[in-house]
Amino acid sequence: MLTRLGFATAALDAKLLTGHALGLDMLALATRENEPMDAGSAARVAELIQRRMSGESVARIIGEREFYGLAFALNAATLEPRPDTELLVDLALDALPQRGRILDLGTGTGCIPIALLANRTDATGLAVDIDPQALAIARQNADRHDIGGRLDFALGDWFAPIPDYETFDLVVSNPPYIPSAVIDTLAPEVKAFDPLRALDGGPDGLGPYRVIAADAGRFLKTGGLVLLEIGFDQGAEVSALLDAHGFADVAVHKDLAGLDRVISAHHMSN
Ligand SMILES: C[S@@+](CC[C@H](N)C(=O)[O-])C[C@H]1O[C@@H](n2cnc3c(N)ncnc32)[C@H](O)[C@@H]1O
Repeated sequence: MLTRLGFATAALDAKLLTGHALGLDMLALATRENEPMDAGSAARVAELIQRRMSGESVARIIGEREFYGLAFALNAATLEPRPDTELLVDLALDALPQRGRILDLGTGTGCIPIALLANRTDATGLAVDIDPQALAIARQNADRHDIGGRLDFALGDWFAPIPDYETFDLVVSNPPYIPSAVIDTLAPEVKAFDPLRALDGGPDGLGPYRVIAADAGRFLKTGGLVLLEIGFDQGAEVSALLDAHGFADVAVHKDLAGLDRVISAHHMSN
C-alpha cells in the first residue's frame, strides 16, 4: 500500500513499523518473516501502516530518531532531530575548550547538547526551551545517555531564565527559522505533525536570530563562540545581524549538500 501511494522508502518504512509493532529487531524480523501472524499482531501492524499512510513520519510513530549515533525520544512538542544539525555538533566539538560549558537555546529533544556532552565527558551545559513538554523529553534523553548530571535545564523565553552571572564558552542554537507565511505552504504532514513553535521564526523568519545576536554577548566569555543553524538562504542576513552586534570572524559553514547551514562568530569583549 505504501509503495502504491508513492512513499519513496515504502519497504524500509514497512519493516521498521512491523518490527516496532511486533517488538522484533531487524534480524528477528528477517529470520521469522515466514511465520504466520496472529490477528492482534496484524491489527497492530495495520494501525501503524495506516498512520504512515496519513503522512506521519516513521520516527514519530516509533517515538524516536537517531542523531549523532544516539537514539533520541520524541514527543508532540519536539521536532525530529535532523542530520543537517550534525554539522553544528561537529563545529561545537572542535570549538569547545577543556571543561567547557555550553548553552543550547531551543533544545527540543536535547539532541545538540546531549550529543556534545556524550562525546566530551569534561563538558557541562544548560539547555533552554519555552515548551515544558520539550524540556521533559530532553531530560529523559539526557538520563538515557548518562549525562543527566552534567546538563542543566531551564524553562523560558531564550535568555530570560538564565541567571545574569552565568557565562558560557559556547552558545548554540537551532532556532525556529521559517517565515510565518511560508508555514502555510509546507507539506500537510509537516503542518499536521511538527509543532508550530519549533518552526515559526516570525514574519521574516529572523526573529529568534535578532534576540540571540542582541543578547548572546552578555552570556559568552571573551573569545567565546556562537554557533547557529540557519536556513539555506539566511546566511547574509544572519551574518549582518551578528556583525551589527560586534561579533568577530563571522563565518558561514556549508552542509554536505553544499547549502549554507551554520553560522559561527566570536564574541571579543564585554
Ligand atoms: C527548530 S527546533 C530545534 C530543536 C532542537 N534543538 C533540534 O535541533 O532538533 C526549535 C526549538 O526552539 C524552541 N523555542 C521556540 N521559541 C522559543 C523561545 N522563545 N524560547 C526558547 N525556546 C524556544 C521550540 O520549542 C523548539 O524546541
